[in-house]
Amino acid sequence: MADTLETTTDSERATEALAAAWASVARPGSVLLLQGILGAGKTVFARGFVRGMGQPGLVVTSPTFTLMNPYPDGRLPVYHFDLYRLGDSGELSAIGAEEFLDGAGVALVEWPQRGGDLLPPDHLLIDMDPVPEHPRRRRLRMTAMGPRSREMLDAFRRTMGATSRG
Ligand SMILES: Nc1ncnc2c1ncn2[C@@H]1O[C@H](COP(=O)(O)OP(=O)(O)OP(=O)(O)O)[C@@H](O)[C@H]1O
Ligand SMILES: [Mg+2]
Repeated sequence: MADTLETTTDSERATEALAAAWASVARPGSVLLLQGILGAGKTVFARGFVRGMGQPGLVVTSPTFTLMNPYPDGRLPVYHFDLYRLGDSGELSAIGAEEFLDGAGVALVEWPQRGGDLLPPDHLLIDMDPVPEHPRRRRLRMTAMGPRSREMLDAFRRTMGATSRG
């Protein structure tokens, strides 16, 4: 069965709703890597995910000056990383990232390319791309990179009517 799902959203709200659906199927230890250019909607996704985990009303901004913001009070704890300003992956070790990446909570990682080998190979990769000539449209490609993330993808597929591909 295909391990990639592709869909588009036409608003910030729709991206948040999609992220909330992922929150409903996430498990302890799930890792979601959010890839895409500046302004693609990675932080919007993270906000919808955190709210979907049951922390409504909470404002999630991009953690510009911190590498990681924790949201411990939902169904599962969520650790929101933004590695844009990461110097090298040693810095990620220094904050004890491994513990957050394989524990009781769920990790969301913006700019994962900068994390190098420290990020687990079994993750859900979410590629977000703006669609030319549609200012509010984003294409999202969601790929399971290992058995655990594939289970999550299958659960997501059961809850959503997203188009499968790949
Ligand atoms: N369909 C959509 N989904 C998500 N965001 C959208 C959508 N349409 C428009 N937007 C707008 O795009 C912007 C996305 O900003 P966001 O901070 O989430 O980007 P980002 O990918 O986190 O960027 P950065 O790399 O700078 O952290 C917001 O201003 C949001 O309102
Ligand atoms: Mg961001």
